[in-house]
Amino acid sequence: MSNAPPLNELTLRVIAGLKQTPKRLPAMYFYDEEGSRLFQRIMQLPGYYLTEAEREILTRQWPRLLDAFAPDGRPFELIELGSGDGSKTLDLCAAFAHAKADFVYVPVDISPHALNSLIRNFDQRLPGQQVRPRMGDYFYGWHRHSDTHRQIVMFMGSNLGNMDRDEALGFLRMIRSHMQEGDGLLLGLDLMKNPHTLLNAYNDPDGVTAAFNLNLLTRLNRELGMNFRLDRFSHYASYSPLDGAARSFLVSQDSQTVHSTRVDLSLRFEAGEVIYTEQSQKYNQAMIQQMAQDSGFAPALHLQDPQGRYCVSFWQAIKPAIVRHMLPNASHA
Ligand code: AVI
Repeated sequence: MSNAPPLNELTLRVIAGLKQTPKRLPAMYFYDEEGSRLFQRIMQLPGYYLTEAEREILTRQWPRLLDAFAPDGRPFELIELGSGDGSKTLDLCAAFAHAKADFVYVPVDISPHALNSLIRNFDQRLPGQQVRPRMGDYFYGWHRHSDTHRQIVMFMGSNLGNMDRDEALGFLRMIRSHMQEGDGLLLGLDLMKNPHTLLNAYNDPDGVTAAFNLNLLTRLNRELGMNFRLDRFSHYASYSPLDGAARSFLVSQDSQTVHSTRVDLSLRFEAGEVIYTEQSQKYNQAMIQQMAQDSGFAPALHLQDPQGRYCVSFWQAIKPAIVRHMLPNASHA
């Protein structure tokens, strides 16, 4: 029996991904300290329109959201999955509070640091607003504050797009399973558009996105004792207009072998071989409609920025449909 300590989740996932063909790395590992700092810079790049477009929709069209969340003035819980420090939602909550909406804000995040600064910011700017932070996994400890409150779940920032189709559906169904009929889901989704605009968003001329992508290798060098040479890999972004998938890769510049000093991992790369690091899905109306339907929701409101680049989509949880093929004795004819 080995005395080696058990491998942590990052190590197991990375090994599994790098053993696939084509090699893959999970996008969730972009966000170490340096990766989070680089992502903050990406959000300020002129070509990365997503953050600005979402902010514009929320700032200009919040009254329509409030009407949709509380048409009859019913109190609601605003549950934000992956709230971070809440800076993107603070203005929306301030607008709701000034309109005298009766709501509790429930930010959910894995980072205690982010939630602490959220509490400080809300205390300063919106003293008296009810905030009930929940730290940890999105679904852990999910409960209903009271039967009078409608639950409105927010998942913003185009984060759904970083999941592939099956993952996204599984995630949406999981959210639906925690809800009651009539509750709501608010999603920030990036829309299909001119491929040049999209390529520019994921391959900026200043190389910030390239640094963000390559930082994954720096992280693996540090945490797994790998010896990736960053000058022998390059960032490559693609967009497929047929299915709306923007994809990022790291391309091996030549044939090379990379090892780990900590785990049993030795990887051979051919020249030009890629590691697939991220998918950023873009949607059209039909895809949004289908996704809602497949996960137990009905789209209720669709808001876009003036340039039609991005949308904030509000869905209502509906009675689960009986899935015919799951019924015993269902005929497949
Ligand atoms: C966090 N996520 C929605 C970003 C996106 O657009 O897919 C991450 C990102 N990757 C490269 N640039 C931004």
